Amino acid sequence: MPSNIIQWFPGHMATTRRVMKENLGAVDIVFEVLDARIPLSSRNPEIEAILGEKKSVVILNKSDLADPKKNLLWKEYFHKNGNGAVLLDSKTGKGLSELMQEAKRLLREKLLREKEKGMSRPIRAMVVGIPNVGKSTLINRFAGAKKAQAENRPGVTKQMQWVKAGPELELLDMPGVLWPKFEDETTGENLAITGAIKDSILQSVEIACILCERLKNDYPAELSNRYRLNDADLEKDAYDLFCTIGRKRGMLIGGGEINEERCAAMLLDELRGGVIGKITLEEPN
Ligand code: G4P
Repeated sequence: MPSNIIQWFPGHMATTRRVMKENLGAVDIVFEVLDARIPLSSRNPEIEAILGEKKSVVILNKSDLADPKKNLLWKEYFHKNGNGAVLLDSKTGKGLSELMQEAKRLLREKLLREKEKGMSRPIRAMVVGIPNVGKSTLINRFAGAKKAQAENRPGVTKQMQWVKAGPELELLDMPGVLWPKFEDETTGENLAITGAIKDSILQSVEIACILCERLKNDYPAELSNRYRLNDADLEKDAYDLFCTIGRKRGMLIGGGEINEERCAAMLLDELRGGVIGKITLEEPN
């Protein structure tokens, strides 16, 4: 699977890296947006090297869809690693004031020095993250209007723009995207399950079966509640379990066979929409 992903990403990473480095001097802080359900898989492996000494806040976005207990573990994990870290739901704006406080906390000395010199200006932040992680939604929420065009196609680049987000904050929306890392299969699976990578590129049935296996092991109660499974169903292997779910939903084609594509689409949609439950696919190590 990782090879598919590598082929699919067109390879603008070098450009993004350069543009980020060029613009770091223009900002006080970086807001690094991650998907709270897959914080490491949605993180660009080079980010720490690119940022260097620049202050940053890790934003665990889509925290409304993620497991509340694991949200706290992840927040602690990033704090321990020396970053600012906040949980955010960009759709409702829950967590935005905490993000602002975290930015002010990290920049306290700089802001104080400036204040002593009589300077007063908004904090300037660069927003970065892999496709689909919620950057545009976050910026729109901050700006209180549809300022950044929400673009749901991974890999699509857009113009760099400054967005005024009230009197205290200006956001730099980066063109291009950060890459997730492809080193291991699990990362690719996590990105596919959560929808950071387009379904058409990966085998949706295969991905849905992997999801069944993960949920069976880590979230059996949520899985059985949603699809009315019994204990024996939870003993089945991933494909059998997948077919059982399809059958229970009446997703059949001629001869009693499962409509695999429909069943896979349904499972992935329900996971992504938070319908199966609040689910996090990786834990801090
Ligand atoms: P990007 O700029 O990083 O590429 O991501 P974008 O803001 O376009 O967000 C991608 C999808 O994730 C959008 O869903 C958006 O609504 C959703 N999203 C962003 N932040 C959050 C969050 O904190 N919680 C939840 N639950 N969803 C979030 P979409 O289905 O493509 O669009 P829409 O129909 O929701 O508008």
